[in-house]
Parts: sequence; C-alpha cells; structure tokens
Amino acid sequence: MNADTSPDIKIVPTPEALTFAAAEELRRHAERSVAERGRFLLALSGGSTPLPLYEKLGKCAVALPWKQTHLFWGDERDVPPEHEASNFGAVKRAMIDRMAAPPAGVHAIPATGSDAEATARAYERELRAFFELGPGELPRFDLVLLGLGGDGHTASLFPGHPSLDESDRLMVAPFIERFSAHRITATVPVLNAARAVLFLVDGEGKAEIVARVLAGPRVPHTLPAQLIRPAGGELTWICDRAAASRLPADVR
Ligand code: 6PG
Repeated sequence: MNADTSPDIKIVPTPEALTFAAAEELRRHAERSVAERGRFLLALSGGSTPLPLYEKLGKCAVALPWKQTHLFWGDERDVPPEHEASNFGAVKRAMIDRMAAPPAGVHAIPATGSDAEATARAYERELRAFFELGPGELPRFDLVLLGLGGDGHTASLFPGHPSLDESDRLMVAPFIERFSAHRITATVPVLNAARAVLFLVDGEGKAEIVARVLAGPRVPHTLPAQLIRPAGGELTWICDRAAASRLPADVR
C-alpha cells in the first residue's frame, strides 16, 4: 500500500494457520490491554473468514481474559439478530452460545431490519456512553478485526459511497445498491482511532484485491480498505499464502 504507514503483513500457509495466528494476535492484544487498562475492548468483523476463529474462541481454545473483555461489532447487516445474515447472530452461534462463561460485555449493533438509521444512532449513543465520550471524541477499541471484500470494501464501507468521507458521525447506515439494502457501519475515523487493526484475508479469490489494496496505487475511494490506517495504532494483515499469492516480493 503506497501510504505513510505500511502495515505489518504476515503470510501463513493455510486458512487453519491464519486462524491460529489470529488467535495469537487476539491473545497478545488482550493481555496487553488488560495489563495496561484493566479491560480488552474488541470489535469483531462479519463475513465468513473469521468464523473458524470465533468457533475456536467459543471452545475456549484461546485463553482470553473474558471477564475483562467487551465485544463490539464494526458493522452489521440491517436484519434482526436471528436472521442468518446477522453478524451478531453468526458470532452468537459460533462463539457466545458455546462459552462456559460469557464476556464481560456483548455490545451488539441493535439491528432490526426496519430502520437502519435509528440503529446507527442507537449504537452511536451506546458507544458514547460506554466510552464516556465528550463532543468530538472517538471511541478507542483495543483491537478491531476487519475483513476484505472482493471489491475492496471493509466493514460496510463500500467503494464510491459518501459514507467513506463521514467525519462527524461514529456510526452510519449506508444504503448499498448492490444489496438493495442498508448496512450499519463504523466510520473511518472510528476504525482509525483503534489501538490496533487486524485484517484477516484468505483464499485465492482474494489474491487480486489484496495485491491492489496493499501494493497498488492509493485509490481509497475505489478501495476503501486503503482508508484504514490507525493513526496511533498497529495495522496488521494476516493473509494465507493463496490470498497473498499476487503480492510482489517487496511488499511481503
Ligand atoms: C460483513 C463484513 C465484510 C466482510 C468482507 C469479507 O459484514 O460482511 O464486515 O466487510 O469482512 O465482506 O467477507 P468474507 O470474510 O466472507 O470474505
């Protein structure tokens, strides 16, 4: 990525290795966050890539400090939690319902499928209250998990959408033409306020877009994932070998 903050790119052999490496990253950030601030504030991503990680966490196969951990979501589809497309619902099924002891907090985006704008504003109020934000302040997650769509979107920040330039709101509810549906998503300033951002990308099908985002020209309104560069935080990409297969050697 032609940017002033080049990400740390970790390439692992397989999707299984990606899940293991991601779990290690979560554990590292959780330990540091709890040691420094007494809690771990983790924003989860949707999509299919992180599901094995969520299942691993649900089996408590990863020693996270759940009693000090609060879960949030970076984006949500405008559907109720029981809907199969719900990002919260996917995490609930894969992880939360299987855990012996629940996290200290589960802060789902309260999507209903009937009013995405109201949902975005409700979540914004929840973030302002939880993080005790003053005017103009941003919530600072300890770690934000993100995926990468084949069109370069991340969270629900899609190419060419005005929401990419939103700088006042914490959460917005863009209408996404290709889905003929609304999404609810954190804005770029919120994602970039994180202490750490971790992209997880696997599969040959993502090789082209990974190379464009990380090694191609900087065209952030075409490739929104290029907008994510936490100003005072770590930026890490974990890709399996297939997803990284089109990266030039000097970027790896
Ligand atoms: C969502 C995600 C979205 C996802 C990418 C990659 O709500 O779908 O937030 O940004 O991370 O589309 O999805 P896959 O992991 O399924 O490829």
